[in-house]
Amino acid sequence: MLKIPELSNPSVCMRDPQRVQDILQSMVKAGSNTVQVISDFDMTLTRFAHNGKRCPTCHNILDDSKLISSDCRQKLKELLNTYYPIEIDSSRSVEEKLPLMVEWWTKAHEILVEQKIRKDLLAGVVRESDAMLREGYQLLFDHLHEHSIPLLIFSAGIGDILEEVIRQAGVFHPNVKVFSNYMDFDESGVLKAFKGELIHIYNKREGALLNTGHFQELRTRPNVLLLGDSLGDLTMADGVQDMENILKIGFLNDKVEDRKQSYLDSYDIVLIKDETLEVPNAILLYLTGNK
Ligand code: TMP
Ligand code: MG
Repeated sequence: MLKIPELSNPSVCMRDPQRVQDILQSMVKAGSNTVQVISDFDMTLTRFAHNGKRCPTCHNILDDSKLISSDCRQKLKELLNTYYPIEIDSSRSVEEKLPLMVEWWTKAHEILVEQKIRKDLLAGVVRESDAMLREGYQLLFDHLHEHSIPLLIFSAGIGDILEEVIRQAGVFHPNVKVFSNYMDFDESGVLKAFKGELIHIYNKREGALLNTGHFQELRTRPNVLLLGDSLGDLTMADGVQDMENILKIGFLNDKVEDRKQSYLDSYDIVLIKDETLEVPNAILLYLTGNK
């Protein structure tokens, strides 16, 4: 096997280790200047849980904040309790879940827009939140920056919140680009809508295809490292032009036994209840010849 001891970590599962080895060897041969990284945000770059307590998504950061009324908080929690079990239900097909996910996002955004959220208060809310990037985030972001490898963060969360999380962590480097749902503020800085096409958990393919300009700029980088935690994240690289190799790493955080097989069938490497970025980092170090 490759000189990546982290691939033997107990959290690592692979359906076909030989395939992983072949992809990595092709990529290392092509060189790190042909690589781009595409990552989901919530529960992929951020932690799922810490000391037994769930960590917030971008939306949850607002849900838990004082920027919204208690009535609104209650409604958003009810939506979460209704739709999150559907999101992770392995007995339902994507076709069945898709309209329900659109319903979740649409309702949540409508409720948030009623709250007259002020742009200038977002940074404070993020600072006071329990948001946590996964252990090893600094190495991931800094190493990509040092090696001029583009990182696309592709999130169905909220772009303004996500940016603030990485800015406050000191890792919003110039090689980072974000596709997400951005807030639209009126001239007095109050939330009036969300901009552009909604990105939810199952339309990342459409989102990717709307951003052909970005992938056009990166056409000299046909080797992709993809990081996700949902099966919807697998389509994040659908806009990549002339793709040569893709290595898909999936975090399986919740409902492990029910979902393990489907994750193994679609992700090359599945990380089970692994709250760290140790494995993606080891792969990056390998790809950039630092190992
Ligand atoms: P991601 O694409 O960055 O992972 O963001 C999507 C996550 O956001 C998904 O796991 C569901 C979560 N979410 C909430 O926690 N609350 C909400 O109100 C909505 C609409 C989504
Ligand atoms: Mg996610």
